[in-house]
Amino acid sequence: MTGTVKFHLNGQEVAVPAGLTILEAASLHGVKIPTLCHHPDQRVKANCRVCVVEVEGQKNLAASCATAVTAGMKVRTNSPRIRETVQTILELIFANHPQECLTCIRNGNCELRRLAADYGIREVKGEMACDALPLDTSTPSIVRNPNKCIKCGRCAEVCHHVQETGILYSHFRSVDVQVAPEYGKSLSDVACVLCGQCAAVCPVGAIHEKDDIARVWAALDDPAKHVVVQVAPAVRVSIAEEFGQQPGTIATGRLVAALRKLGFDRVFDTDFTADLTIMEEGHELLHRLKSGGALPLITSCSPGWVKYIEHSYPELLPHVSTCKSPQQMFGALAKTYYPDRAGIDPADIFVVSIMPCTAKKFESERPEMNSSGHRDVDAVLTTRELGRILKQAGVDFAALQDSDFDDPLGISTGAAAIFGVTGGVMEAALRTVYEVVTGQELESVEFTAVRGLQGIKEATVDLAGAPVKVAVAHGLGNARRIMNLLRAGLADYTFIEIMCCPGGCIGGGGQPYGTTDAVRRQRIEAAYRVDAGLALRKSHQNPAVAKLYEEFLRQPLSEVSHHLLHTKYRNRSLYKLKG
Ligand code: SF4
Ligand code: SF4
Ligand code: SF4
Ligand code: FES
Repeated sequence: MTGTVKFHLNGQEVAVPAGLTILEAASLHGVKIPTLCHHPDQRVKANCRVCVVEVEGQKNLAASCATAVTAGMKVRTNSPRIRETVQTILELIFANHPQECLTCIRNGNCELRRLAADYGIREVKGEMACDALPLDTSTPSIVRNPNKCIKCGRCAEVCHHVQETGILYSHFRSVDVQVAPEYGKSLSDVACVLCGQCAAVCPVGAIHEKDDIARVWAALDDPAKHVVVQVAPAVRVSIAEEFGQQPGTIATGRLVAALRKLGFDRVFDTDFTADLTIMEEGHELLHRLKSGGALPLITSCSPGWVKYIEHSYPELLPHVSTCKSPQQMFGALAKTYYPDRAGIDPADIFVVSIMPCTAKKFESERPEMNSSGHRDVDAVLTTRELGRILKQAGVDFAALQDSDFDDPLGISTGAAAIFGVTGGVMEAALRTVYEVVTGQELESVEFTAVRGLQGIKEATVDLAGAPVKVAVAHGLGNARRIMNLLRAGLADYTFIEIMCCPGGCIGGGGQPYGTTDAVRRQRIEAAYRVDAGLALRKSHQNPAVAKLYEEFLRQPLSEVSHHLLHTKYRNRSLYKLKG
């Protein structure tokens, strides 16, 4: 629909683009209508009714999220009848909701609590009838508290229509409705990939990351522990949001300074092992091209994606790169190479990861992630948990002076900076593979064909006269479409990048609340600005990675590399879900 539509909003005539809902149109004119089930990136569900408005000529109040503006329509968003209705809806929700705000993980950013404050809810009228259902704490990543669920359906929507994993369903009817896995199963008993996209869209404390802050404090408070921290590329372009700054704010230096204030002995950078991943994965691709290994090669740095292919396409696992993710490569080196050089007993080292991702918690606990003889990674905090621990420590993030990462695991290139963006791993790999194969310097390092939020992107790259077709997918629904092509023998790609979460890690399930496509774009642009601002933009130019090979690993795909930096996968198809 094109053109503009004029309508009356609270007595004033206003013009808006045609095709908008009343909710969207009102927002354009500075009128915020309350919502709970609505999410800007999702289809209309219209089940909570807190967004009701009066439309002249209509007897019933209209759900503004589900009603299109029409020419001449007269809408009121604020009247005694509307306020009373919204208050009644909120009171009904609270009558069936645990009054645990003070101890709730969403205290401070709960959408329901904010509405209750805005609407002056001071008492819960009627009889309280809270559920006392058991919590699902079966996974290392996600906690489900069905007692706090307001049945908005946002989690099921993302799980079914974005990730297409179909784990969360609405069960039962009317007041008994529950949003949960099938047959009352726990998340560890179904093919949940622990991506946390459900948690990222939940408006309340009904699904959230498992909180590992206490374990990190215990390590930091233990004088016998040498506690090192690594930070994923996507965190530096989102952490400032936890302190009220705009999405897309680049906060690398302040992030390092904040981690020093927490008391970490060394502040390192996952970008270092992102560069290392490109060296290992790029050479794995070249090795497979030369020696006839399974092609296309598929990236392995997204743990939700790896768990998904283990559950859903186990016969395609030989295509997945054997490279551990940058998080796990870092952990393996932090327990071998680093303590060797620093003269520290690896048993005393405690590795903390700051990740945008809830599935990284699961990945760190995979039994095989201990090739150094110790757990590669001891604790994983999401960006949201980092925000909370910094607040607990009284760190004034806005006032911090920039600090630099520590050597040697803190040096990185622009290629690593874009790892957290859909298409970023592919672009970083192409920068290195092209130069290794052709022996020529790239004229432009920017492979724009693999950039952007399109669900599936394709490009063909000329490698010394040989055209190489690549594909990039983000969000598991898009991954599924590529895997179906591959399963049917219809995928003529050589290399495929898959990221579990929409937009890549910048849209991870552990990122600050409020992630929408608009926010994803801002974080993506920031990651590209970080890349463009660095002197070195190709992983093979990283001097610290070159030194690591010279002193320790010898060469990409060496025996030591294979032992420490590569891994294997398992079939988790039906009835083989655990482990
Ligand atoms: S989910 Fe929100 S309203 Fe419910 S207990 Fe937590 S903070 Fe309070
Ligand atoms: S973590 Fe991901 S796969 Fe699991 S229920 Fe949530 S959205 Fe679905
Ligand atoms: S778990 Fe959260 S997102 Fe899912 S239905 Fe309940 S309140 Fe909504
Ligand atoms: S936000 Fe409109 S019905 Fe829920």
